[in-house]
Amino acid sequence: MITARAHTNIAFLKYWGKKNVKLILPYNDSISLTLDRFYTDTSVDFDQSLDHDEIFVDEKPLTGSGVKRVKNVLDLVRHLSGISNFAKVQSTNHVPSTAGLASSASAFAALAAASTKAAGLNLSNRQLSIIARHGSGSASRSIFGGFVQWHAGHDDQSSYAEPIQENVDWDINLITVLINTAQKKVSSTNGMQSVVETSPFYPAWVKNAQADVKPMKTAILNQNLATLGELAEQSAMRMHATTFGAVPSFTYFQPQTLAILSAVRNMRKQGVECYSTVDAGPNVKIICASSDNEFIMHELNQIVSAKQLVVCKPGPGITYL
Ligand code: DP6
Repeated sequence: MITARAHTNIAFLKYWGKKNVKLILPYNDSISLTLDRFYTDTSVDFDQSLDHDEIFVDEKPLTGSGVKRVKNVLDLVRHLSGISNFAKVQSTNHVPSTAGLASSASAFAALAAASTKAAGLNLSNRQLSIIARHGSGSASRSIFGGFVQWHAGHDDQSSYAEPIQENVDWDINLITVLINTAQKKVSSTNGMQSVVETSPFYPAWVKNAQADVKPMKTAILNQNLATLGELAEQSAMRMHATTFGAVPSFTYFQPQTLAILSAVRNMRKQGVECYSTVDAGPNVKIICASSDNEFIMHELNQIVSAKQLVVCKPGPGITYL
């Protein structure tokens, strides 16, 4: 039995929409930061005494659409290794599940790492990224630590993530504001698909997202928080704009989401470098320098309680326990 740990990542340049649903090939490149505070530990054992795959998440049997995704990854690993045994998978999330905190990212990255090693394969991180992508697109990025780029690619082997900067040596922080950790109504998978199929804003999204890749990479390498933050906030707002254009329209924003977005803009007007990003859920993540944490948390405390705030720093890539 092999156990692997993967950390979640938050996209600064969002992945939003698939050009190939089966292979999970995105329309545009995306860029993320892997975080230190939220992670998943997954153990895999290919056991010849099993007559089906047994999958447990946080000690409960997995149900719903996740089952098929896990089996897809296991089937791929069986195909690559020549193993025919079924597997026992036990996964523990150290993250509020499905709250827009990208738990599927850490979950499928840990699964890719643990299952390949348990099957006797010794793959490169690039290959692990490709396998993780088959479970969930954002998982391709959680194989690596620090700042990561997922190349959209054009087929299975050309769509993978790679580090921009694994060991981040600046004091960038991400303050997570937990507005609602209940299961969201529209999953990221369904939300992005509906946008691709019905939102007239989608082509503009793709064009602008791809154009932001280079400037965002440059901002990361130059440790330019202002440019990185502005581009990240724009990416998030444009992604959410596509949902308003979908038919039927929908939004992940809740009243407190808007209150936090506006508080961040006000702090910026006061000269504090802080920027917002929001994934497929109501929670806001604030990008800032650690020296401004105290001020920002104090301001946010007027809207949410202290226990709704979690300060994250850059986190590591895959590890085996
Ligand atoms: C808004 O990776 O969860 O967080 O590939 O369908 O599993 P699937 O989607 P998923 O989508 C993440 C969307 C996002 C942006 C991002 O992480 O880049």
